[in-house]
Amino acid sequence: MKRLVLASGNKDKIKELRETLEPLGIKLLSTYDYPELEEVVEDQETLEGNALKKARYTARHTNLPSVSDDTGLEVDALDGAPGVYSARYAGKEATYRDNLQKLLNELESVPEENRTARFRTVVAFVDGDQEKTFEGVCEGTILTEPKGEGGFGYDPVFRPQNHKQTFAELSPEAKNKISHRGKAIEKFVKWLGAKK
Ligand code: IMP
Repeated sequence: MKRLVLASGNKDKIKELRETLEPLGIKLLSTYDYPELEEVVEDQETLEGNALKKARYTARHTNLPSVSDDTGLEVDALDGAPGVYSARYAGKEATYRDNLQKLLNELESVPEENRTARFRTVVAFVDGDQEKTFEGVCEGTILTEPKGEGGFGYDPVFRPQNHKQTFAELSPEAKNKISHRGKAIEKFVKWLGAKK
């Protein structure tokens, strides 16, 4: 395999995966190379369903192997919410800030020891009839107020296990090493390297 399409227009995701795949001799394309691709509606009930839906659509329309990812934050005190609905927790047009604020409101009366949560990412790879998924999980705790300026989404309130800082206080490199997405991508890239 020489070329692979990432079913995403997120520049950070593209850059990160491109740098990882370059040593394997794989050129990573993205939705920027296929402006005719439509945005895939993430309406499935699982992360795996959404990730596969995006990768299938992209593979079918580009005739190339495709990869995509979907992530959710699962909070134990909220029975796993927002989970697959993390991007639109506070509504369809919600900003990262709206979602984060809703999460803090929902957890207002929950004590620290019960604020356990995890980020989960599913990476899906589709090449013709071949389909494979890879999962990465990062355990942690939801703080009572945001800390740090880096990252995105729920990063300012998520403190990964065995760390003193939130994801938003860690450098991008430090976050990638322990993050849900970093782990899922690592599994995928290892598998891809062995497959070649
Ligand atoms: P996506 O699957 O990467 O689009 O992620 C779905 C939603 O989960 C995003 O809109 C963010 O709210 C949240 N999210 C995903 N990854 C992260 C992360 O690494 N840190 C914080 N929030 C994230």
